[in-house]
Amino acid sequence: MDTPSAIITGAASGIGKEIAAQLASCGCQLTLLDVDRSALLFTSQELSRRYPAVSIRSETLDVTQAAAQRAAFRAHVETYGGLQLVVLNAGIGERGPFFDPANEGWQNTLDVDLTAVLHGIKIAAEMMSGGGAILAVASAGAFFPMPVAPVYAAAKAGVAHFVRSSARSLASRRPPLRLMALCPEFVETPLVTRLMKEDPELARQLLGSLDIKLLSPAFVASVAADMLADNSGAKYKPGAVALIRQDGEVVQPHARNGGKVIGGSGGKHRAGALGGDGDRAAAIQAQRRVLAVWAVRGLPLEYKKIVIATLSSNFRQAARLVTVPLGPLLRPPRGQLLVRRVYAGINASDINYSSGRWVGGTSRCA
Ligand SMILES: NC(=O)c1ccc[n+]([C@@H]2O[C@H](COP(=O)([O-])OP(=O)(O)OC[C@H]3O[C@@H](n4cnc5c(N)ncnc54)[C@H](O)[C@@H]3O)[C@@H](O)[C@H]2O)c1
Repeated sequence: MDTPSAIITGAASGIGKEIAAQLASCGCQLTLLDVDRSALLFTSQELSRRYPAVSIRSETLDVTQAAAQRAAFRAHVETYGGLQLVVLNAGIGERGPFFDPANEGWQNTLDVDLTAVLHGIKIAAEMMSGGGAILAVASAGAFFPMPVAPVYAAAKAGVAHFVRSSARSLASRRPPLRLMALCPEFVETPLVTRLMKEDPELARQLLGSLDIKLLSPAFVASVAADMLADNSGAKYKPGAVALIRQDGEVVQPHARNGGKVIGGSGGKHRAGALGGDGDRAAAIQAQRRVLAVWAVRGLPLEYKKIVIATLSSNFRQAARLVTVPLGPLLRPPRGQLLVRRVYAGINASDINYSSGRWVGGTSRCA
């Protein structure tokens, strides 16, 4: 294959812009698509300055306009003679409370975050006759309930499930087409930082805490680039749905071996299930990597603990996850270590013990 070419939607800002930069740094010829004309112009000029040897086209596009999306993809193929990589990244957040009778904006979230992505996959599949990879940027909301953004979560879950459901038929083509989805937790982009500024209370409800350490767009983009580059499917098989956790760990929750750790930090580490010697080594590597991410990001500002709030054999009902700030006194003086203790599981006697202390009236209950 000559120089590969790529289309990125929502490329003017945040994650899409970083993915564009990383693909440009690999020499990919690009078409950047975005509804925000001035931000798109700014980004394409900036990337053209940084990567003068790379051809970078840009086109204003509202992805909800399926015919316009098709025309933009066609223009790319006509310009570059083919299309090898597609990143369907354009997205918006929740548009007001769903159950507010006056709210009609919610449909727009479904249109952009779900329907337009399915159109994008369909159009890309038609135009990528030479094979390649399609990556949909979904969200961790595909896995976890988002009480303040239920329509967004439903749209992202729809994307992830569509990817899992339809990847096999695209992979069986000759040459194959790999369809995958990327599901980051919270990332430091205008989608989140704008909300933090404009509606801190809503942002706090969404994020759990305003002091949360957001993922960097560059890191998320490095995982995306790794997925796109994995032609052999060794780490990211067709239909892969990769979740990037807030601490930088990358997992594929649907993978056969459960919570398979496949490597953050750009995914440079080998995959492995827990079991044999090679697997043990992979697990140790993964653990080191998580600790390394934690170490370079400095000390956490808070920690989470499970509190048994009621006496019940229904553990889900009885337990609450509570975020506790780490006071300044817990910051170790120079030369001392802060040890992070992680409970991997809980058994019946632990529950009784915790419950007993709660009922006994002590304030510390976990
Ligand atoms: N920031 C996060 O915490 C986070 C977490 C998980 C997933 N995501 C997803 O990542 C993707 C990128 O978001 P981001 O965080 O970089 O936000 P962002 O707001 O920085 O970027 C989104 C881009 O999409 C563009 N866009 C919006 N509607 C469009 C439309 N109709 N047509 C074309 N372009 C459109 C915007 O103009 C913007 O440039 C989104 O799909 C988002 O849902 C974000």
